[in-house]
Amino acid sequence: MGSREKTLLRFSTTGSVDDGKSTLIGRLLYETRSVYEDQYAAVERTSKKRGYEETDLALLLDGLSAEREQGITIDVAYRYFETPNRKFIIADTPGHEQYTRNTVTGASTSQLAIILIDARKGVLTQSKRHGIIISLLQIPHLVVAVNKMDLVAYSRDVYEDIVSSYGRFSEKLDISDIIFIPVSALKGDNVVTKSDKMPWYEGSSLLHYLETVHVSADRNLLDFRFPVQCVIRPNLDFRGFAGTITSGTVIPGQEIAVLPSGRSSKVKSIATYDGELYEAFASQPVVLTLQDEIDISRGDMIVRKDNLPQVSNVFEAIICWMDERRLVKSNSFILKHTTRNVRAYITKIFYKIDVNTLHREPADTLTLNEIARVSIKTSSAIFFDSYKINRGTGSFILIDPLTNNTVAAGMIRGTARKVEDLVEAGKIEGIKQKKSPHTIWTGWNIPREAREARNGHKAAVIWLTGYSGSGKSTIARSLEKRLFESGCQTMLLDGDNIRHGLCGDLGFSQKDRTENIRRVGEAARLFFESGKIVICTFISPFEKDRMTARSLIRKGRFFEVFVKCDLEVCKRRDPNGLYKKALKGEINDFTGISSPYEEPKDAEMVAETDLKTVEDIVAHIMGILEEKNIINLRD
Ligand code: ADX
Repeated sequence: MGSREKTLLRFSTTGSVDDGKSTLIGRLLYETRSVYEDQYAAVERTSKKRGYEETDLALLLDGLSAEREQGITIDVAYRYFETPNRKFIIADTPGHEQYTRNTVTGASTSQLAIILIDARKGVLTQSKRHGIIISLLQIPHLVVAVNKMDLVAYSRDVYEDIVSSYGRFSEKLDISDIIFIPVSALKGDNVVTKSDKMPWYEGSSLLHYLETVHVSADRNLLDFRFPVQCVIRPNLDFRGFAGTITSGTVIPGQEIAVLPSGRSSKVKSIATYDGELYEAFASQPVVLTLQDEIDISRGDMIVRKDNLPQVSNVFEAIICWMDERRLVKSNSFILKHTTRNVRAYITKIFYKIDVNTLHREPADTLTLNEIARVSIKTSSAIFFDSYKINRGTGSFILIDPLTNNTVAAGMIRGTARKVEDLVEAGKIEGIKQKKSPHTIWTGWNIPREAREARNGHKAAVIWLTGYSGSGKSTIARSLEKRLFESGCQTMLLDGDNIRHGLCGDLGFSQKDRTENIRRVGEAARLFFESGKIVICTFISPFEKDRMTARSLIRKGRFFEVFVKCDLEVCKRRDPNGLYKKALKGEINDFTGISSPYEEPKDAEMVAETDLKTVEDIVAHIMGILEEKNIINLRD
């Protein structure tokens, strides 16, 4: 690590006391030497006095809780520890039914959540409820720690049954990264060091995973949002705007717009306590100065001129009701959003969500811990993004102006994702659209998560698109070899090969190409659900068809790679002499000659084969897969 600054991981833990949550946290604190000797000695003494065989590390938390800040209405305890590689903040939340609001509060700023499941009890309603809340809060990483493995004789069958059962349930959730770890918090198996009691488990220990999980990719570095906290004017020559960058990056010279006025200017300088910066990014507190004198005050937002948030005084949100008193719809609230406070009304409750089953129910009011989709109207416009793409500008709290209580936490629902939108509008074929009459979908027998846990990597689809001769197959073959040699389960679907057999009846008209991609998309999905990393190489010239393929695969697991190569270079390469024939008119509908190619606009990666080597491109793709936690090469 050298002198590089340590990264920070915020995570939350949920589970009831009996699940061994306190013991687990106690062990993490103890084994990373985050407690004082005398604290540990006291705990050891108490354990002995009570006749325990083992030191009860959960007792450590009792001592620490007493020191906790008093007078907080929401019961979440924060604890800190660090290792040579990373700093950690744990939001420890009680897990009983009545504490949904605690889970919401604790998890709302977390990058990762740990759910504990008692191996003897299996998946309980509560384990599912936590999963649903974590999915609503869009926490990107979930660790399901199957605890008390010592009490089930470290049985692989017991563990795999839980993985299967939770895996099947989690298919309904919107969490892209779920991993399972069998642990014994009491005995220490797989918590900090890998256990020799469970040789069948091939993954890493919990702490190792916490230390290495990639979280930087989860930050929104695209959309620059700077809510102004205050205006700084020490003298007539200096006028700066202080705040913390919520998301995105900024450099001097950047063209910006100020909301709500819409006035534009350029960033002149980025000042901090330690001097000026050439670039600043999400989570940094800075003072911006602008080239022009514009009237700006607290609660305004500075954004990039070509990347604006939504601006509205009516929006929909998911809220969790946190007040002891039920919601009275005619009441007005103070809505706190970034640095802006506005008056707000809940104008409509669309439905309540049963957090045990995900079912929707009609509702006229909300009581403590209930979660609902509502419509909100504010006295003046706020500037927001959907919570899905920006947790900072997509979340808010509601305060009762009379009691000053926080009565709700909310997540703004923006427009749905592009693919889902299109599926809904019937513009592209979604999973449910093609089916034979009188057939019923019964779900997979063995869930993908169970297969992934056994494989030691996630399933994914890497979709290479580009002209014939652009180098798709060359990259794909080399990539598959690399993955295979690293121990991954792979499958390669290649245009020319699939057109022998499965798609052998199709030609190259637009209609046939659409059917070609629909079939291979479905085939890719089958391999994906069987836990493989599927590499697909198809010209797939139409955006709409590529979107169909994407819509079949779980969010966050489809990686479109635009294999970009100058058409003239492709013609020169002409590996099978087809361009020559097409140019002579011997082949019809040839992509790039007599049939169009729509370049991808939102590909996860662009591989320029006329500028970069195959090795570099493969290394880049491997890097992306690692960063997105599909594979982990460091174990
Ligand atoms: S796609 O457009 O439907 O995605 P696909 O990738 O399956 O095409 O097949 C492309 C391969 O078929 C090319 O690599 C090339 O070898 C061969 N081919 C034969 N005729 C054509 C054509 N008219 N246009 C493009 N590729 C063709």
